[in-house]
Amino acid sequence: ALIKSADFIKSSSKESECPHEGHPEFALVGRSNVGKSSLINALVHRKELAQTSKKPGKTQLINHYLINKTWYLVDLPGYGYAKAPTAIRTDWNEFTKGYFLKRQTLVSVLLLVDSSIEPQQIDLDCVGWLGRNKIPVTIVFTKCDRKKKKKNGGRKPEENIKDFLDRIKPLYAETPPWIMTSSETNQGKEELLRHIAQLRIL
Ligand code: GTP
Ligand code: MG
Repeated sequence: ALIKSADFIKSSSKESECPHEGHPEFALVGRSNVGKSSLINALVHRKELAQTSKKPGKTQLINHYLINKTWYLVDLPGYGYAKAPTAIRTDWNEFTKGYFLKRQTLVSVLLLVDSSIEPQQIDLDCVGWLGRNKIPVTIVFTKCDRKKKKKNGGRKPEENIKDFLDRIKPLYAETPPWIMTSSETNQGKEELLRHIAQLRIL
């Protein structure tokens, strides 16, 4: 699984504005600052295809990137950004949920979860909502390079991941596929690309 080309196609503010070519697509979601844009850049070997920033709330639209001219990687706004204006927070719910429910070509949501912190209710809520709405999800744990630190409660990524998977067990008959990644070390990059390739041909 290799990415030979990645082209930014367009930004949309609702599902009806999204590209109509019918390519299969994979949408990245997660809390603001979880590392969505960094992961896109790591996947495609480009530093600035998706804009990253230390300030959360940078990505505010549905951004389509065409990969190898055949499938889309979609960057969505982060959720749970407490400082975003209320109007923007409401919008996230409106258009992101609309996009998930309407988008016929969506193969799987790639839900990014920060492995350097303990399970967050908003992420558990998101997994629950996707499950109840029968939207396929792959859980992508980010920042797995982060060593345990006092400020993270002194817990290892593996401990946070195990807790997260335990907490979503009651929500699913079968635990969704999950992958450990790091945009710093490229851990999990190949595994994620293979997983995407496999789902595309199903
Ligand atoms: P929004 O667009 O604001 O929702 O954020 P985002 O999810 O796109 O996050 P972004 O990629 O901009 O990264 C946020 C911060 O986390 C940046 O300071 C990154 O350098 C850092 N970061 C992202 N991925 C990793 C990772 O794998 N490891 C480490 N250690 N830091 C990371
Ligand atoms: Mg971003």
